[in-house]
Amino acid sequence: MYIQRTLLLLGVASLLASGQAHRLPGVPSSFTTEERLTAAISASVAEEISQEFVKYLKTGLESPRLQQLGAELRTAHSQKDIFTESLVDLSAADQYFACTLCRATVNVIGRTFTGPNGELTGPDRDENAKQTLLSICDYFSIQTPEVCAGLFDLNWPILDYIFNETVAEAQSICGMLPIKICQLQQPEYSLNLTIVGEMPTESNSALPERSDNDYHVLHLTDIHYDPEYKSGSWADCPEPMCCRDPLPADASSTGAGYWSDYRNCDTPRHLIVNAFEHISENHKLDWIYHTGDVPPHNVWSTTRQGNMDMLTEIDALITTHFPEIPVYPCLGNHEPHPANVFGNDEIPESLRVDWLYEHVWSLWKKWLPNEAEATVRRGGYYTHSPKAGHRIVALNSMDCYLYNWWLFYNGSIVLEQLQWFHDTLLAAEKAGEHVHVLTHIPSGDGDCWTDWSREYNRIVARFSKVITGIFNGHTHKDEMNVHYTETGLAVAVSWNGGSLTSYSYMNPNYRVYELHPETLQVLEHHTYILNLTEANLKPDEPPVWHKEYEFGQQFTANTSPAGIDELLVKMANQPDILRKFWRYKMTEADPKLAAGCDDSCLNTTLCRLATSNYKERQRCRELQAILKDTLDKENPEQPQDNGVAALAAYSFSSLLGLVCVLRYLNHL
Ligand SMILES: *[C@@H]1O[C@H](CO)[C@@H](O)[C@H](O)[C@H]1NC(C)=O
Ligand SMILES: *[C@@H]1O[C@H](CO)[C@@H](O)[C@H](O)[C@H]1NC(C)=O
Ligand SMILES: *[C@@H]1O[C@H](CO)[C@@H](O)[C@H](O)[C@H]1NC(C)=O
Ligand SMILES: *[C@@H]1O[C@H](CO)[C@@H](O)[C@H](O)[C@H]1NC(C)=O
Ligand SMILES: *[C@@H]1O[C@H](CO)[C@@H](O)[C@H](O)[C@H]1NC(C)=O
Repeated sequence: MYIQRTLLLLGVASLLASGQAHRLPGVPSSFTTEERLTAAISASVAEEISQEFVKYLKTGLESPRLQQLGAELRTAHSQKDIFTESLVDLSAADQYFACTLCRATVNVIGRTFTGPNGELTGPDRDENAKQTLLSICDYFSIQTPEVCAGLFDLNWPILDYIFNETVAEAQSICGMLPIKICQLQQPEYSLNLTIVGEMPTESNSALPERSDNDYHVLHLTDIHYDPEYKSGSWADCPEPMCCRDPLPADASSTGAGYWSDYRNCDTPRHLIVNAFEHISENHKLDWIYHTGDVPPHNVWSTTRQGNMDMLTEIDALITTHFPEIPVYPCLGNHEPHPANVFGNDEIPESLRVDWLYEHVWSLWKKWLPNEAEATVRRGGYYTHSPKAGHRIVALNSMDCYLYNWWLFYNGSIVLEQLQWFHDTLLAAEKAGEHVHVLTHIPSGDGDCWTDWSREYNRIVARFSKVITGIFNGHTHKDEMNVHYTETGLAVAVSWNGGSLTSYSYMNPNYRVYELHPETLQVLEHHTYILNLTEANLKPDEPPVWHKEYEFGQQFTANTSPAGIDELLVKMANQPDILRKFWRYKMTEADPKLAAGCDDSCLNTTLCRLATSNYKERQRCRELQAILKDTLDKENPEQPQDNGVAALAAYSFSSLLGLVCVLRYLNHL
């Protein structure tokens, strides 16, 4: 898609203003009749609500129709889930809801602010924009006024710059949501990356033996340290992150647990210290990978200094507990302020994150060679060869994150790092090195820009004999993803380390890999958790960390890409293996286990394992077809629920896209 010339927020307004919702232009031809209809309903409801709301903004009078829509909408969504669940994981009804909201807000913003008499051209633009978005926020009970105002204040300068500098087209931010019915027909964005050499012609199946000489490497990720965490505080608050404020007088919920909390809360310092003590006493480690996200999820109230202080404090804790052990970090989306937003040197200095790059370099340089300074300070990425034949490549994966506004400003900014990645791997191949890649966001994540993933995956496939491991975080799930070539060969595996934070409804975990001493291939991994229910029953005692499982023992000793692909087939044929995998994926957290994983959840779980580009689902579909046969045999009477009933329940209501816009500002 031509993001470069796309004015996301204004685009869809002109598209829908045509009033021809049932002949919505740009609906992909691959849509089924039902999808077309849903897309059309969503568009026309969005149109209706935005017209009514603009009238309301101008006159202060609520029409009966707006009152009706408002009443439906206020109760039809949960303030919390829309913020805390990934869009990709929402139900069909909720996705419809989010898409409609997004389009309606785009309309409201477009009609209020642009055009000859638009307030955006006047001297009070900032104040007007804020009042409008806060009034939408309030009218539809999107979130608390503090959260909406905070997100606005932090992000408006960047959005304002982008709106002002970019020329609108009839495409939109809503079309970029990972929601099918919201998507428009768009040309592929040409990133024009030239890849040197031949693509592989067979799957990657080589696997050396385990031995006593294997390396042991700790994977820490998503610590999400909350310096303001208060045991006993309000864990059930309406904001996207809790466990900080006093319990309200009439609180019926129990307060925040001592060792952290299953609800939407991050990590108290004493849990981090306890984890580091436990790890340093119980494991002999060769080095550590730390794949990002140190600050907590209060994205509406972060500060630059606060984020730097947290990075410094966690760095100091790591060096104290692991004094002799090298640590190789990469950046997460929560490191900058405002969260998620990384630009390059084409944007005004006041909006750049050079301060962050400088700060992390001051912390990271003790483990890295001087040559790494230039790329860390330029874009937060680096390469380092700790030993002859071994190389680490740490990427700044915010080049793929759809919540990074600068991608919409100029998508080509991602080329520089991709080209560097390619060139670094080419040099490593010539030098006969084995490479590990660290990158916070898995490339198959629904929130990762698929044009970037496509190019990234082509590079991974091309150099799949050189890359012997990829390490991610971000999703807070203990999972992995197989990378396939365009011809369907399994060539690489991304391993996700889960999270130290319990956000949300997870047990804190860490992971230790066994690596072959020469090739650095992952031969086995061990995941450790604590049972948070149990830990919080005994706040005065140290929590009990235990080994949850060994991957090879529970699933397969063949951890090569081909071996993991075979495992996925086995999971499709034997759903009990998939069910077991899902329990570990959720770190056996009591609330997750209580909710369980039905057939549709198994279906999604399997698909994610085979996805390294959200748009490329070939292997996923093949595996799902096998799973469907198996589940049909297991449970022949089960009625098929295709979600139509749920959709009908929502299709009369509409909603506003501020949710989406705010979600963009807010996301995980
Ligand atoms: C918007 O763009 C115009 C033309 O490039 C420029 O003169 C103006 O200062 C910009 N305004 C803001 C708020 O960036
Ligand atoms: C990619 O190359 C084509 C042909 O050379 C050109 O038309 C297009 O604008 C380029 N795209 C980008 C994003 O640079
Ligand atoms: C977009 O970014 C690319 C790469 O940094 C640059 O060459 C190009 O000039 C930029 N385009 C615009 C319109 O700023
Ligand atoms: C966690 O601990 C609680 C309390 O002891 C227990 O009821 C629960 O079964 C444990 N969960 C798991 C998955 O073992
Ligand atoms: C899994 O999902 C696919 C695509 O969404 C669907 O076609 C298939 O019927 C689902 N299978 C099961 C068992 O739910």
